[in-house]
Amino acid sequence: MSAESVTNLGTEELDDKARRRFLIAATTVVGGVGAGFASVPFILSMQPSAKARAAGAPVEIDISKLEEGQKITVEWRGKPVWVVKRSQKNLADLASLNGILRDPDSAVEEQQPAYAKNQYRCYSEHPEILVVIGICTHLGCSPTYITEEDPSAKTLRENWKGGFFCPCHGSFFDLAGRVFQGVPAPTNLVVPPHTYLSDTRIIVGIDSSDKGAA
Ligand code: FES
Repeated sequence: MSAESVTNLGTEELDDKARRRFLIAATTVVGGVGAGFASVPFILSMQPSAKARAAGAPVEIDISKLEEGQKITVEWRGKPVWVVKRSQKNLADLASLNGILRDPDSAVEEQQPAYAKNQYRCYSEHPEILVVIGICTHLGCSPTYITEEDPSAKTLRENWKGGFFCPCHGSFFDLAGRVFQGVPAPTNLVVPPHTYLSDTRIIVGIDSSDKGAA
């Protein structure tokens, strides 16, 4: 299947062969990233207990060792929350995609807090950091993070600039979690309430306006 033909796939047309090929590649990528983070023991130590997490307790994340292109995952209210560090090139690429996105300006209110209602979908003081819930807005699968450099990227979508791909029914999101036109997912990925305790510490589950309640 050519890159162009995959790009133009409709909802149900992602054939099994391409999907299998993607899943194999994606597993390799995720494994590689995971291995990198295995040597960075900064996530678990800061998590609340399982009981507190289930109750919706805020989750604090140390991003001091997060490098460009990397993604870390924490659990908040039973959902995966991704934190991705984008490069300056990634940010520049986002602007070039506006014409082929369904909601480039994050106009759908409930998909993000007010401070993330912009093309980067984050605080303006920290444009490189994306915090997003890793659940597809179509039927709830968890998309896969794919960088522009990933060899599988070119087989999935022409001129891929990096982002998230949901293999369940073929939805694509950019590196701001914005959904592309012509895919089944109706809206952008959800940006959860979060705020910065410092330049390297984020708390998910609390907006800056109610930080005092933490
Ligand atoms: S759940 Fe259907 S495309 Fe993601």
